[in-house]
Amino acid sequence: MSKPSLIEAFERAGQGHVFSFYNELAPDAQQTLLDEAAEIDLAEIDRLTRTLLAKDAAIGLDLNGLAPAPYELRPENGGDAKAWADAKVAGETALRAGRVAAFTVAGGQGTRLGYDGPKGTFPVTPIKQKSLFQVFAEKVRAAGTRYGKPIHWFIMTSNMNHAATESFFVENGYFGLAKEQVHFFRQGRMPAVTLEGKIMLETKGTIAMSPDGHGGSLRALDRSGALDLMEKEGIDILSYFQVDNPLVRGIDPAFIGWHILRGSEMSSKMVAKAYAGEKVGHFCTQNGQSIVIEYSDLPKSYQEEVDPATGALRYIAGSIAIHILDTKFIRRMARGDNSLAFHRADKKIPTVDASGNAVKPEKANGVKFEMFVFDALPFAKNPVIIETRREDDFSPVKNAEGLDSPKTCADDQLRQFTRWLKANGATVSADETNLPPFAIEVSPLFGYDEDSFADAWKKLPAKPAISVGLYLE
Ligand code: UD1
Repeated sequence: MSKPSLIEAFERAGQGHVFSFYNELAPDAQQTLLDEAAEIDLAEIDRLTRTLLAKDAAIGLDLNGLAPAPYELRPENGGDAKAWADAKVAGETALRAGRVAAFTVAGGQGTRLGYDGPKGTFPVTPIKQKSLFQVFAEKVRAAGTRYGKPIHWFIMTSNMNHAATESFFVENGYFGLAKEQVHFFRQGRMPAVTLEGKIMLETKGTIAMSPDGHGGSLRALDRSGALDLMEKEGIDILSYFQVDNPLVRGIDPAFIGWHILRGSEMSSKMVAKAYAGEKVGHFCTQNGQSIVIEYSDLPKSYQEEVDPATGALRYIAGSIAIHILDTKFIRRMARGDNSLAFHRADKKIPTVDASGNAVKPEKANGVKFEMFVFDALPFAKNPVIIETRREDDFSPVKNAEGLDSPKTCADDQLRQFTRWLKANGATVSADETNLPPFAIEVSPLFGYDEDSFADAWKKLPAKPAISVGLYLE
């Protein structure tokens, strides 16, 4: 669109104020503003304003017919051991055939952690202080070696961390992966709007834009050419995980196998919620479809409901944001009629007033729109949810202190290393939760899950004493 027609389109849409200070801007700055404006789908903003912002917008959730989602129990909890074994074999076969890629969503702002820089660069391991990205890179590398096929790794960034993320990988030699194996792409952005639906300026020459949520990954995978590349490489299975969780088994043969054998288009892992109010999504069903309802949306009475027969929480299946997506399904979601719904989040958005003076709001003054990847679930054929052990897959770093912090995550890594060592006959002095009184570390290149660790341990000619500072590589 030429310059005047873009501005005219904004005026026609009642958004002409975006260009209030345009004439005061230097030519470069004018261009920047035009480029940002060109990213905005005015019809989409109009639709969101009419739906999500309308005074009579339906608030609250339709809870009609809501029930807990069924899931596949692990064998030790009564699940079908044969089905799990078959799944593992099917997953391993797919890995050997090179059908699987890893996918990390890393476009978030990481505000809660209070860390300046892409979250993936945050150090997390107990001794070597490896970054989240390094841990994932080494897991991807080790799994590629194990199955005899290098695994491609896709990383979704956002405008604010794309360059810093790429340079981190360049500076660190891609952590031993081939450059051609690692693919970065940016997610889309959405403008913040006022409560009346007016697009907000951040400064006189910039729009208050922010990432469109991890659900934006579906269209970004398509737009960026990532799906085309996968097609070319014969990849049809994408293993999705979040940047904040170093414990994740990003390449998990049994999970991949369940996805394949069930003909699932989107599969998910659940853990039993640790307590009623745990801040995770809840796997539910409604009208025959699987859905995830966020902790912030599911009424407390539901979160606390107990099954009288077992005494366990009824809505027990917590979503830990680990999925497998079929690449054709992603394409269909990105291009078809079933695009993901946007969620509204009211936020304090730094902006400018009518005279162009900076405004730092004390309370929410605007709305951001985000898509969530789990909203794709109801559109997926044969979705399958499997149980996983929390200690095998989930210990995120979200907060600077307390729950889900660097400390809890490092301790959970120590517990995992201890469990693996003990399972293979090593003696480790540790408390009843398996936490040793000193730091040890296992490199993913030595072992990245129970099986790979056991194999590597067996091959060690002399078993080391498990004491302070032990690093297995
Ligand atoms: C998320 C899930 C929650 C789940 C929990 C498990 C949502 C809304 N909730 O909560 O159901 O139980 O994780 O840990 O997702 N990201 C992007 N682009 C964005 C926004 C986020 O790539 O625009 C990425 C982040 O980098 C991060 C992940 O998505 O890897 C999760 O984002 P975050 O906002 O931290 O989710 P939570 O609220 O912790």
